Amino acid sequence: MADLIPLLVPRHVAIIMDGNGRWAAARGLPRVAGHREGAKAVRRTVEAAIEQGVRYLTLFAFSSENWQRPPDEVSDLTFLMKHYLRSELDEMHQQGVQLRIIGERERFGPNMTTELEAAERRTAGNSRLTLVMALSYGGRADIVAAARKAIAAGIAPEALTEENFPGFLATDGIPDPDLLIRTSGERRISNFLLWQAAYSEMLFTPVLWPDFTARDFAAALEDYATRERRFGARPV
Ligand code: IPE
Ligand code: IPE
Ligand code: MG
Repeated sequence: MADLIPLLVPRHVAIIMDGNGRWAAARGLPRVAGHREGAKAVRRTVEAAIEQGVRYLTLFAFSSENWQRPPDEVSDLTFLMKHYLRSELDEMHQQGVQLRIIGERERFGPNMTTELEAAERRTAGNSRLTLVMALSYGGRADIVAAARKAIAAGIAPEALTEENFPGFLATDGIPDPDLLIRTSGERRISNFLLWQAAYSEMLFTPVLWPDFTARDFAAALEDYATRERRFGARPV
């Protein structure tokens, strides 16, 4: 029995980190205070994922629709993401974390693009945990970009398959998420990994992202371990 337990650990966990604004509002604080506190939850969750033996962790930090927020919030978020990367990269590198960025990183400007690329290059040889940061990411944009790449590669229409199409997506080489968590009580996918989440187990928790702890992460993994995944087939 005990031998079976490690098999129940999801290989890839993806999280829609939601509720920073409500966390701040509940305390009479500006939204940025919630985002700042949310960055601490990111750190805790990366550590928890390593501890639990999860191999891929994808975090939705900024959606392609989040550009519609007021410019001061967008700039607070951009600043915090840059700051997080700068302050955590050494530690993550030491812990064997490989960083991958998905989404339209160029939209954050040339400086951030360069920094993100340097961070990816520096950690490319690490394999303990692959941390995928979704920045200016949208599932629909990912699929359209993949279709364009396939066309540009000169692939014949009949040669494009469900097996080779994912190779054109931003997540090329990353297995599909086994478990998709959304915090803050919202129950929607908000244009996250549309293709990749086709058979992900979903877990919605009322916990606001800044309050999310290693215990909440462990509880989500325990819940996952009780699920029966059938992928459309008959139960075994
Ligand atoms: C998640 O928190 C962070 C981002 C979407 C960038 P929100 O800012 O969406 O917080 P709520 O949903 O307003 O509480
Ligand atoms: C989804 O949260 C995006 C991120 C967590 C980065 P939102 O707060 O932007 O989503 P909606 O607007 O409630 O669907
Ligand atoms: Mg939100």
